[in-house]
Amino acid sequence: MHKSDIDTPALILDLDLVEDNIARMGEYFRGRPQKLRPHFKTPKTPEIARRQLAAGAIGITAAKLGEAEVLARAGLGPILIANQIAGVTKIDRLFAIAARVDTIATVESEFNIHELERGCARAGRAIDVIIEVDTGMHRCGTDSPAETVELAKRIGRGPLNYRGVMGYEGHAVLLPDREKRETTAREALTVLSRHVAALRGAGLPPAIVSAGGTGTYDIAGSWPDVTEVQAGSYVFMDGAYRRVRPDLGMSALTLLTTVISRRGDRMIIDAGMKSLTNEFGPPAGKTLPLKVARLSEEHGHLAAGDLEIAPGTKIEVVPSHGDTTINLHSEYYVVRGDEVVAIWPIEGARAYR
Ligand SMILES: Cc1ncc(COP(=O)(O)O)c(C=O)c1O
Repeated sequence: MHKSDIDTPALILDLDLVEDNIARMGEYFRGRPQKLRPHFKTPKTPEIARRQLAAGAIGITAAKLGEAEVLARAGLGPILIANQIAGVTKIDRLFAIAARVDTIATVESEFNIHELERGCARAGRAIDVIIEVDTGMHRCGTDSPAETVELAKRIGRGPLNYRGVMGYEGHAVLLPDREKRETTAREALTVLSRHVAALRGAGLPPAIVSAGGTGTYDIAGSWPDVTEVQAGSYVFMDGAYRRVRPDLGMSALTLLTTVISRRGDRMIIDAGMKSLTNEFGPPAGKTLPLKVARLSEEHGHLAAGDLEIAPGTKIEVVPSHGDTTINLHSEYYVVRGDEVVAIWPIEGARAYR
């Protein structure tokens, strides 16, 4: 099938570019003490995770148990759940995943430890855990090295296996100014290092120290205390990341849409907020100098200057935020050049539980 025969709106993956992005990141981490454990929240398909593991990734990071279940069904891991999970239903799902694939859970308080310990008793097995440190994003995580040390000691008194710490510098990854981004990331990693030093001082050296996103992969990836990086977006490079890190790969993900109306300088495409997101700014044309200025439910309003585009024309736009756009879709149309070579189900889409 030719790309132009795909019905719209549809997500297109340029496999040559995806392979370039995977290879480039794999190359960066080859021969380093720091390793890559790519985040599944971006691609949400085992087809990509399998290729990342083949390129040297030491495992896969997931945000949600639903994502981890997709990976476990595909037999892919080891999995790091880089997120807090709460409630008996979820804890039991976590242990069911861990029974299939090596899994590391994340904790930040006595509450999580207690819930996981009860989960161990129900499942009749232990599980590996790391402690989440707040390195400046102010989402989840411990506030002080003393708190982290106390939690590590507390973990050691029960059945859970203490493996280390993580600190995701999400407040730095998308800062457009390079100097500001690097300074903010270094400050965050310095905080993480303080926690690591305190743990070492207490005789609890962390085997795993996880950090980093696409915008800071090279800062986290060369930070001496860090052992692994959990970057995700690099694999597709959405519009927001292309602006912040033009030195990284090309955007491999586009949305194919059809112009359905043209009246004067008003132009409308068949992709609205049910198939495209814009919280990271207006999606832009892949080759044409246009922007999707506004989204309503089913319609996208194009700002296309004096471009001549007739109704019925199919155009490709680059999502500004890949992860949330992908979440709205059920399959990727995978192309090499203009030829569709595969259709991959996005099993992890809407895996928000
Ligand atoms: C905990 C965590 N780790 C890593 C990432 C990596 O993200 P990215 O590569 O998109 O910067 C994210 C992004 O949301 C995250 O929440």
